[in-house]
Amino acid sequence: MANTLTVTDNRTGKSYEIPISYGTYPEYGASIPTADLRQIRASEEDFGLLGYDPAFKNTASCKSAITHIDGERGILRYRGYPIEELAESAGFLEVAYLVTHGELPTADELEAWTHEITYHTYVHESIKKFTEGFHYDAHPMGMLVSTVAALSTFYPEARDIADPEVRRRQIVRLIAKMPTLAAFAYRHSKGLPYVYPDNDLAYAADFLTMMFKMTEVKYEPNPVVERALDVLFILHVDHEQNCSANAMRSVGSSRVDPYSATAAACAALYGPLHGGANEAVVRMLGDIGDPKNIPDYLERVKKGEVKLMGFGHRVYKNYDPRAKVIKKLAYEVFDEVGKNPLIDIAVELEKRALDDDYFVERRLYPNVDFYSGLIYQSMNLPMDMFPVLFAIGRTVGWLAQWEEMLTDPEQKIARPRQVYLGHDKRTYEPLSARE
Ligand code: CMC
Repeated sequence: MANTLTVTDNRTGKSYEIPISYGTYPEYGASIPTADLRQIRASEEDFGLLGYDPAFKNTASCKSAITHIDGERGILRYRGYPIEELAESAGFLEVAYLVTHGELPTADELEAWTHEITYHTYVHESIKKFTEGFHYDAHPMGMLVSTVAALSTFYPEARDIADPEVRRRQIVRLIAKMPTLAAFAYRHSKGLPYVYPDNDLAYAADFLTMMFKMTEVKYEPNPVVERALDVLFILHVDHEQNCSANAMRSVGSSRVDPYSATAAACAALYGPLHGGANEAVVRMLGDIGDPKNIPDYLERVKKGEVKLMGFGHRVYKNYDPRAKVIKKLAYEVFDEVGKNPLIDIAVELEKRALDDDYFVERRLYPNVDFYSGLIYQSMNLPMDMFPVLFAIGRTVGWLAQWEEMLTDPEQKIARPRQVYLGHDKRTYEPLSARE
């Protein structure tokens, strides 16, 4: 069997042979280099054939070894490790090490990495002044996008992206400082004084402290809530070439510093089609209000009047493995802090939807956002902080994607082609001559 594709151009009758290459799973991972289509020309002057693929629906933009998703089978793995096992047994910083370095850390490596991240959590005092400048009701995600971008001005060395040691320092700084920036944005929106990071605390506990500490000498987060937040961060670490990862790679490909590229990725995540769906789920469950209203709501979904938020996924045509973990986690949190009354509506809604032909035929299952908002709400986190929490976990993935892109000799500045549909050449007329 030849690993090639033979294409015949019916305009010229010429045939071309294009190589087919494979990823780790040859049975469902073949691709052709679309640059090879350029040799297919109708005439000498012809530029050559382009692939046309708006929204990259069927174009691989990179070769990556970070995350494996098999949407048909409901599989998600970071560096080969199933998400379920990592969520069950690992800590967020351990997973951050794995995704950043490619291998799980030894005990000594994890200790050194945790120490390094912990001792980079402080931000320059000027960031506080910067945050002060925002209006009291500024969206925390807008504040985060801006303050992450502002970090680049404090670390001019970060522009030296060709130096692996410089890159490493910025990766540590970004993972360490995101919770601080996020908590500052929240405290500002509440009109509360900022709480500085506490180096005695673990990553999630420190974040909860910076968010919720009031007059107590030492804020003690509930350990179940702390672990749940750690797991939620793990579940959001990476999801291969999604909109924000693509923004990170694309902006980073201009060789800008990683703070500016991360700000671009945060901006992509801010959009309601990406990081905002969990908020929409909580609003939807509130609108349904009672399990008895579910049949009516599902009828409206089937008529196309509304969407069932937290259901469906471009990649998963099976149960999103993250949703399974989150559903279980939700009950653990509710046992501790009290049940979120919306969970009964969510569970019944899921059950009825999975029994309904409309959803079965379209292979619509709960995604990561279906239950995560309910947990965040039970932790007393306001809805506009939901995408900010997503960004904290996802920063690890963005940075791994960025570093992989920079060290890949096949990558260049991202610059797609277009199919031009505009006017033919026109002659400029002076204003006085125009009707
Ligand atoms: N409720 C009702 N119908 C749906 C839904 C839904 N949530 N999702 C898809 N469909 C229908 C859609 O109308 C279409 O039906 P038909 O074939 O009759 O036209 C069919 O299912 C295929 O849908 P699609 O729009 O072609 O699917 P897509 O891959 O373009 O969209 C999606 C994926 C996630 C945008 C979409 O499922 C959706 O809008 N879901 C609700 C929003 C949501 O939960 N988003 C979170 C995504 S996970 C977070 C992340 O990873 O960033």
